[in-house]
Amino acid sequence: MKKTVKDIDLKGKKVIVRCDFNVPLKEGVITDDTRITAAMPTIEYMVAEGAAVILMSHLGRPEGEANPKYTLKPVADRLSELLGKEVIFAQSDVVVDDEVKAKAAALGGGEVMLLENVRFRKEETKNGAEFAKELASLADIFVNDAFGTAHRAHSSTAGVADYLPAVSGFLIEKEVKFLGSAVEDPKRPFVAIMGGAKVGDKISVIENLLKKVDTLIIGGGMAYTFYKSMGLEIGTSILDADSIELATELLKKAEAQGVNMIIPVDVVCAKEFRNETETLVCSREEMPADMMGMDIGPKTVELYKAEIAKAATIVWNGPMGVFEMENFAKGTLAVAEALAESNAITVIGGGDSAAAVEQFGLGDKMTHISTGGGASLEFLEGKVLPGIAVIQDK
Ligand code: 3PG
Repeated sequence: MKKTVKDIDLKGKKVIVRCDFNVPLKEGVITDDTRITAAMPTIEYMVAEGAAVILMSHLGRPEGEANPKYTLKPVADRLSELLGKEVIFAQSDVVVDDEVKAKAAALGGGEVMLLENVRFRKEETKNGAEFAKELASLADIFVNDAFGTAHRAHSSTAGVADYLPAVSGFLIEKEVKFLGSAVEDPKRPFVAIMGGAKVGDKISVIENLLKKVDTLIIGGGMAYTFYKSMGLEIGTSILDADSIELATELLKKAEAQGVNMIIPVDVVCAKEFRNETETLVCSREEMPADMMGMDIGPKTVELYKAEIAKAATIVWNGPMGVFEMENFAKGTLAVAEALAESNAITVIGGGDSAAAVEQFGLGDKMTHISTGGGASLEFLEGKVLPGIAVIQDK
């Protein structure tokens, strides 16, 4: 068990908190503030306990240079709204300078400030010690609550813990609880649903989950690589050519390990990669040479719904089809609805599947939706995440 903010005395302490405020923006306006609201319980708790709270995060990939496109100013404004009081935005192109140090030193108990995008500094993504020291010099305690960035060993996620005692916030605690217990101590039957375009991207997750699940359901673009490995015609569907052998091996492994691994039995095909195009529903043995698979077919939907209905724990990562296009969203929607109706523990990996569930308005029907895309995948792979490893044990 890792120490959390509840295990330390915060009153009168200066606390530097790594959050993942890497939110989508359109013309400077935040289009989804989930990651900000997910950080609020920790921030509100620290404020209530009388800590002086210094927040830090990255936004996008400015590659070590100050760039106004990636400023955290819109996040400071949103935080102020959510907290109902001013969050001081300590803008600096170098993140920490004398002025920022003075602001941090003057910050009183219950006050909150936000540093500029830590990726304005080249050292950040290299886990540079000097930058980590600069960040640490602002505070007495390091709190990591950036689950979405916990798979990165950077100055602000890991290095800073070399110079300050490190505890976790409530978001990391919650993510580890739900993702961890789903995988390590699942109520059975345990069903994992894997989608997305490339088998190669999910190979380690599938391998790790094969050791743990009762049923593994495959959907999305990666299904066509499995088809290819089964000797089927896939027309113009997306193919992860480097992973065909891998797909064969995974099918063999599943069989050897007694896992019920299910590949879609039918497909919604399209002539072109767009919503308004000629479509055809066919069995996986009948895909036309001039069409591409865009979604799982209705028989597969029924098959997957039946498996989901039997499950006691479900982990879902990756959409079943091109859900961004209405005509090819049915498979992903059906799976999301089946999860919403199920009494099982439902854990949604971040990224596309989280976006799909929210788009369908089913977010509050799930047990847990991870705020981490890459981080939740690495967690499900069984990897130790550097940002979690640095947190002190209880
Ligand atoms: C994410 O969005 O997955 C995290 O914020 C990490 O961002 P990164 O992939 O740029 O490190």
